[in-house]
Amino acid sequence: MAHAVVILAAGLGTRMKSKQPKVLHPLLGKPLVGYCIETAFASGAKKVVVVVGHGAEQVRQTFAAYPNLSFVVQREQLGTAHALAQARPLLEGFPGPIVVTQGDTPLTRVETLTGLVETMRQSGAGMALLTMRLDDPTGYGRILRDAQGEILANVEEKDATPEERAIREINPGVYCFDSSLWEKLAQVDNRNAAGEYYLPDLIRIYRQAGQKVVSLESKDTGELLGVNSRAQLAEVERVLLARLRAYWMSQGVRMIQPETIYLEPSVELAPDVTLWPGVILRGHTRLGEGVEVGAYAVLSDTVVEAGGKIKSHTVCEEAYIASRADAGPFARLRPKAHLEEGAHVGNFVELKNARLGKEAKAGHLAYLGDAEVGEGSNIGAGVITANYDGERKHRTQIGKRVFVGSNSLLIAPVTLADGSFIAGGSCINQDVPEDALAIARQRQRNIEGYMKRKRTEGQKSPNEPA
Ligand code: UD1
Ligand code: CA
Repeated sequence: MAHAVVILAAGLGTRMKSKQPKVLHPLLGKPLVGYCIETAFASGAKKVVVVVGHGAEQVRQTFAAYPNLSFVVQREQLGTAHALAQARPLLEGFPGPIVVTQGDTPLTRVETLTGLVETMRQSGAGMALLTMRLDDPTGYGRILRDAQGEILANVEEKDATPEERAIREINPGVYCFDSSLWEKLAQVDNRNAAGEYYLPDLIRIYRQAGQKVVSLESKDTGELLGVNSRAQLAEVERVLLARLRAYWMSQGVRMIQPETIYLEPSVELAPDVTLWPGVILRGHTRLGEGVEVGAYAVLSDTVVEAGGKIKSHTVCEEAYIASRADAGPFARLRPKAHLEEGAHVGNFVELKNARLGKEAKAGHLAYLGDAEVGEGSNIGAGVITANYDGERKHRTQIGKRVFVGSNSLLIAPVTLADGSFIAGGSCINQDVPEDALAIARQRQRNIEGYMKRKRTEGQKSPNEPA
């Protein structure tokens, strides 16, 4: 019988000291509760219910796209048992086991959830929960067992005696219940230090009803870390990053000083990718076989095809780099920068909505915005496309094998036809025909002997010619 999952995510997360609801804080680019939702579906859940409260609308909107996902609102945050009770109208009568997880515990593995369901099924228990042992159990509920090792109860830190606080086996907040859950939930009271309805009180209630409560201990303490504070968020991030790096290295990626590399779960890497220290890979970045990314480059939603190269300190956002093309060091590729095979972008070049054709080059200090550069063309140092007239953006069209001399200003809309040549320092505001030479600058004037005369006169400034 397939299970359903309830994710508790209504709390504000006071200890985060943030205006943003805790479960929406990003962990490697994705909101915390997003991990819980994905894991729930990946575990085979037929139905997933998220209990929302603080930032309810925001949470709902963020995950609107998931089918079989529903939300219930907990108006007042009266505790985890009260939160779970809100899901009753949606799940009462659901035939399978009900799994409950917490929106602030993002790294729980799929196998751990299915393992818990399996543990309950095999033992014939009414309730199953995960436990884990921590060297520092501070902040978690402690698990009380009898001499035979049977679970008796969970005690929250606030309510615990000093002896109970010394217990290192804790409750990570992942449970599985049979369908008697809803009637038992009504028996939970709020007579405790926090004045809250504690979900783990169900351990006692199931036992009092004569039903078995069993546990499954997780040996991977990293997966069950809860996020209550910024420091815990950083810790969870560290665990997830270590997981991702280890995975990609096992897939053939070379990382130099891996502990300095940041990458998000949505990134895809091919074998023989090389990442130098300090590289940041975000969003739907995809790197093909043999791609090398230099130190401190930042790539967001960027595709680099096999054999492409990004040199150090380059920043790419929604860019596309074909094979044998390269960018950097210190290049900036903004959205819709597109380098075709063998194209080259060098230092201090910025591209936005601009395409460099095959083997085209912009080696240094240029701005290409809303521009098309044909195959084999060369953009000199200091070339600028003036694409914005203060109101609208205009395109610059550069054909094949065009040479644009250094420090030229191309005022868009303008077209430089195939094979044309722009003399350095030109200000181009008219189309240039095929194979033409365009010069658009003041002619140089040499004044013979001027400096010599000035030196002998010794007074006049060169700005006031004789
Ligand atoms: C809870 C457990 C504790 C366990 C720990 C594991 C209880 C009483 N305590 O404590 O035993 O060791 O998790 O991480 O359950 N929430 C609601 N509505 C509420 C209260 C909380 O939806 O009224 C949600 C929160 O958004 C959060 C989750 O439930 O995602 C847990 O709440 P939190 O306040 O973080 O509980 P802990 O103190 O961590
Ligand atoms: Ca918590």
